Amino acid sequence: PVNKPLGGKTAIVTAGPTIEHIDPVRYISNHSSGKMGIAIAEALADAGANVQLVLGPTPQQTSHPGITTTRIQTAQEMFEAVTARFSQADIVVAAAAVADYRPANVADKKIKKGEAQLHIDLEKTPDILRSLGDNKTQQLLVGFSLETNNEKEYALKKLREKHLDMIVMNSLADAGAGFNYDTNKITLFDKNGREQSFPLKSKQAVAQDIVSAIIELQHA
Ligand code: C5P
Repeated sequence: PVNKPLGGKTAIVTAGPTIEHIDPVRYISNHSSGKMGIAIAEALADAGANVQLVLGPTPQQTSHPGITTTRIQTAQEMFEAVTARFSQADIVVAAAAVADYRPANVADKKIKKGEAQLHIDLEKTPDILRSLGDNKTQQLLVGFSLETNNEKEYALKKLREKHLDMIVMNSLADAGAGFNYDTNKITLFDKNGREQSFPLKSKQAVAQDIVSAIIELQHA
């Protein structure tokens, strides 16, 4: 039906930050609020999709009846939650700000204050979206690109290298865009070379634009 263009489809949305433990009381994380990803999950559900939201630690939440939320903390837990659901998915939107590095060793007791400098070795976390891109069959994959410089070049590189169908570029250089704001300003690039720029809007309106582009791309 026209009003439920994603009826019968299953979507996975990742949102929010991850936290990476240093010891039992400390962690590494980032400023992601999860607001953009939650708005996308709600817009997909409004369009009729059955949405699996995999959400990192944030006070933000949703009670939309079309959304099932799985709470995770670390990149590894997000990787496992997404991978377990991937074969059932038609659409995946990776809006999470996954930590790129984690402590190579997690101390099992609180690290005591001592020397003037403390060194913590970091190792890479799994790149969830890259792994999905390498293993996709029918799924339409959408990623995010948040940069402070050379935004377009980096966005197109991620679109290509992670085998995405579409990438959402936003810039921390734009006023009102990015972490914790209720607004965002995006440009969409798809695998067919289409580029669409949008003005500053509420994250709900941005989510509508992204979902409309997903629906159009499904029929392209
Ligand atoms: O390479 P970069 O981290 O900038 O790519 C951002 C995109 O990749 C986002 O869609 C983000 O959710 C996803 N990502 C991921 N797993 C990671 C890092 C990023 O899924 N470990």
